[in-house]
Amino acid sequence: MPWRLAWQSALYGTTGFYRRQSPASHFVTATHPPLGRVLAEALWRLADLLEVSGIVDVGAGRGELLTVLHEHRPDRPLLGCDVVERPYELPEGISWRRSPGGASLAPDLLDLDDVLVVAHEWLDVVPCPIAQVDDAGVPRLVLVDPASGVESLGEPLEGPDLDWCRTWWPTIGSAGEPGSRIEVGRDRDLAWEDLLRRIRRGGALAIDYGHTAEQRPTNGSLTAYRAGRRVEPVPDGGCDLTAHVAVDSLRHDEIWTQAVAFDRLGMHEPTPDPALAQCDRAGYLRRLERSSAIARLTDREGFGAFRWVLVRQVD
Ligand SMILES: C[S@@+](CC[C@H](N)C(=O)[O-])C[C@H]1O[C@@H](n2cnc3c(N)ncnc32)[C@H](O)[C@@H]1O
Repeated sequence: MPWRLAWQSALYGTTGFYRRQSPASHFVTATHPPLGRVLAEALWRLADLLEVSGIVDVGAGRGELLTVLHEHRPDRPLLGCDVVERPYELPEGISWRRSPGGASLAPDLLDLDDVLVVAHEWLDVVPCPIAQVDDAGVPRLVLVDPASGVESLGEPLEGPDLDWCRTWWPTIGSAGEPGSRIEVGRDRDLAWEDLLRRIRRGGALAIDYGHTAEQRPTNGSLTAYRAGRRVEPVPDGGCDLTAHVAVDSLRHDEIWTQAVAFDRLGMHEPTPDPALAQCDRAGYLRRLERSSAIARLTDREGFGAFRWVLVRQVD
């Protein structure tokens, strides 16, 4: 079957990966301790700049980011959304909505008002068609056997997906090398639009692995994780499946790397002077933890290369 369908069923089917598994048990993201607390601080700074009161977390996992957002500002409204029931350990007062998964959002995630909507590593797990250029230079849908992961080439890509590739993926056409792969971003664009439509007043921020037209991955970026390890991408429900996001095709006002975003938000902390530890050990350790977290979150070889796709004002 086409990758998009196999991927959807593997992650969000009745026994899909994300229905059974907490993302945090399989891979580390910037929302997990000790980085999450500092990421949350940056998000509140952005919410303040946009002059909104609350934050909505779409693809909230088990509420890791919401919990630290709440620690910073317990008086502010928070809402999470994921494919599972509200995690029981979530602090009281945080609302929750349940989605079908992938591009389909919760039917009752509506009329979001006076909020910054954050989607941290959501769009990379929204399944999309995968195509491969054949020997004649024609991009064809890649089909996959869900049990084994063995691939074959199907029908030529056509319609809006082909149009999307012509606009956004320059390896199509004269530059299309046989064997090169395309992760067709149209489903992600539509999912993002759907999310934006649900915001009555506020901003939206997608934070994700991403690329722009100048540096698309010629061999694709589809990857799988299980129990902290990278594994072969087999859509059998036993692993996470993710592909980087074509961020420039998403509606946006700004696209920054996370390193640039932190700089603009004034998220700096120099390594504290060890002499501080003599007179204020707790203060020294606190500043050391914050400066180490900022260094990791802005490392251009790691989380610092993540893209922040910002829509400033949706109304
Ligand atoms: C890669 S994990 C990221 C979790 C968390 N945001 C983080 O960064 O640690 C992707 C999460 O998005 C959730 N997800 C996928 N599609 C969704 C949808 N349509 N609505 C809400 N959550 C969704 C998955 O269930 C999963 O928990």
